[in-house]
Amino acid sequence: MNFKGRDIISIKDFSKAEINHILECSKKMVPYAKGEKYTNILKGRVLSSLFFEPSTRTRLSFESAMNRLGGRVIGFSDPSGTSQKKGESLADTIRMADSYSDVIVVRHPQEGAARLAAEFADVPVLNAGDGAGRHPTQCLLDLFTILTEKKKIEKNKIVLLGDLKYGRTVHSLAYALSLYGVELTFVSPGSLKMPKEVINECKELGVEPRSTSSLEKAISDADVLYVTRIQKERFPDAEEYNRVVGIYKVDNDLLKHARKDIIVMHPLPRVTEIKPEVDKTPHALYFKQAFNGVPVRMALLSLISGGRL
Ligand code: NCD
Repeated sequence: MNFKGRDIISIKDFSKAEINHILECSKKMVPYAKGEKYTNILKGRVLSSLFFEPSTRTRLSFESAMNRLGGRVIGFSDPSGTSQKKGESLADTIRMADSYSDVIVVRHPQEGAARLAAEFADVPVLNAGDGAGRHPTQCLLDLFTILTEKKKIEKNKIVLLGDLKYGRTVHSLAYALSLYGVELTFVSPGSLKMPKEVINECKELGVEPRSTSSLEKAISDADVLYVTRIQKERFPDAEEYNRVVGIYKVDNDLLKHARKDIIVMHPLPRVTEIKPEVDKTPHALYFKQAFNGVPVRMALLSLISGGRL
């Protein structure tokens, strides 16, 4: 298995065996991610963190991961302070980051931007979310969270809820979960259904996802409820957004219909789709899930840089 120098553009770039290996490495990274142990395996390496779209968790956990490995970070969190403002192309910005660093993390509002970036860079490019496209590193931390909480990924009954049309995290996750033969149920407003392309990817892997608009029914025997935000910024029409916002709410009343050991996940940020009262229940896994971004991204950065613990 060789990860050195590889781009991470889509979770589909990895086999199940490779994903399992990344998850094993992530587990070893946990004490380092918590600051209980120290390592310098990426000393002298520089990461470019290029965020053309807002981010809290993805950017900070990538930066934390690089720092915890002994590396350094350069970059921006808002392109308005860069030469993009003067009309510079993405390709040229990427060429610069390529010559200033050893690995590039890029988030961009356009689907396909990370793939394009990888064509212009010799160093590895990691897709931190490309529009409504894919979000492979989030997918890996979501898998890691399910694995650590449920002890296995296989055979779980998993409900994906919310904006399945524009939500990039669920596009990557539905595919990856299908590799593990889980039971998938999609719950969304009619206008925000999972794209056919993703459903077909699941089917090709032997998983027939069910679709329903009844959340109560869907969660009654679920092991995992994965909630997503309605992706306001992707709507071409504000009225269409207003029609669907607030349509699903996860609260303690709803969770009475679920199994006692159901875990509630969310890539965050949440807006109104999970009530804060859920935070105090044992179901709430989303903050732990967000922490898991650090060990998983440490594993990825060390694997593609050829650094070993
Ligand atoms: C998600 C994203 O950016 O796609 N957030 C994240 O990376 N943790 C989800 C979202 O913005 O709703």
